[in-house]
Amino acid sequence: MKILAIETSCDDTAISIVDVKGSKNKPVFKILAHNISSQTKIHEKWGGVVPSLAKREHGRNLVPLLFKSLKDAQFFETCPADRRVQLCKTKVFPDKKINKLLDREVDLQKQFWQEIPSLKVPKIDAIAVTKGPGLEPALWVGINFAKALALVWDKPLYPINHLEGHILASLASHPQSTKQKAENISFPAISLIVSGGHTELVLSRDWLKYKIVGRTRDDAVGEAFDKVARLLGLPYPGGREISKLALKFKHSSRKIVPPFEIKLPRPMLNSGDLDFSFSGIKTAVLYLIQKLKLANKFDNKIKIEIAHEFQKSITEVIIAKTFKAIDQFKARTLVVGGGVIANPTLRQALQQEAARLKIKVLIPEISYSTDNASMIAVAAGFRLLAKKSRSSSSFKAEGNLNLK
Ligand code: KG4
Ligand code: ZN
Repeated sequence: MKILAIETSCDDTAISIVDVKGSKNKPVFKILAHNISSQTKIHEKWGGVVPSLAKREHGRNLVPLLFKSLKDAQFFETCPADRRVQLCKTKVFPDKKINKLLDREVDLQKQFWQEIPSLKVPKIDAIAVTKGPGLEPALWVGINFAKALALVWDKPLYPINHLEGHILASLASHPQSTKQKAENISFPAISLIVSGGHTELVLSRDWLKYKIVGRTRDDAVGEAFDKVARLLGLPYPGGREISKLALKFKHSSRKIVPPFEIKLPRPMLNSGDLDFSFSGIKTAVLYLIQKLKLANKFDNKIKIEIAHEFQKSITEVIIAKTFKAIDQFKARTLVVGGGVIANPTLRQALQQEAARLKIKVLIPEISYSTDNASMIAVAAGFRLLAKKSRSSSSFKAEGNLNLK
């Protein structure tokens, strides 16, 4: 079963093609194409994602990314315009329906008519697309494109929850690898989702069953990284910049004297539950910077110390809560997903603690940690193997979609 997946929930446009084999209990995924077009350069100057610009860029990126993905998977075949209906096996194009779907996506509509009719129907079995959560204007572009493709190629279309994608991302195998990998999850499992919009601990007693047992009460962890990065004057997206800066930290070079000890709170560390709160750390960083600026001590060295301490504080809280959840629910596997797991300090700390406690841990490679479409294809493939998915052509974007 070959699945083409589209992901446009935030500021990355992504398309993947994944081959799905095996069974629900032993799924095998092989990535045939994994393409991401980053919009960082566009949003950088605004210091964050601008939904209207993200929507416009998705509209411009989708067709070129589709062509690249079909080529990577060796599914790219064109046919001459005069013999299109016979050769391409496309039905006569349902022009009105497609124009209705793409009416609000000016660039995409133009490219669609220029390029798609010349494509031979690719040898894929299904299309999957992110339905939510995310920025609704951005989600809609991917959804409308997926609906239009499903219509002209006559393929079933599966709406997918982005968070389920992050949880299942570690099941995807490396695109360069010829070896196929079948990962195993022993239940109960605890999944930790750490992204720009979410910080959640999820209990699963079986595949595709989710119960949220802990979540942030305010900012998501990635959001905290991005906001603190902005306070430190680092470029967007801030998470990666903080981890780069923190790498420069050396214990030996610390020479700050009181009252400027760089110490941040560990919010809700001993709250007794599995919830998080990150907005307090951000405020603590803000006050610290204000004090340092007044004393003329806010220089690059101090920024390195703050980045290091911030990362340490976040890591300590996440480790404590995650392993508390594992203990509480007697979990046998820890699954991690979301952009913040690209952070080497957090990654290493989770791996070390899991090894110490002999808990199996599944962490996706970096390019599967941040937003991508392979995780969407994997989730769709998994649902199809488990016979827990129905194709649909009439669903809507859901910005606040939850895990059920
Ligand atoms: O999963 P993701 O790509 O998008 C969402 O679904 O939100 O996560 C993006 C988040 C951003 O907040 C970004 O700053 C953060 O992941 N991030 C990092 C690192 N790389 C990306 N945070 C900390 N350290 C990193 N190396
Ligand atoms: Zn995400």
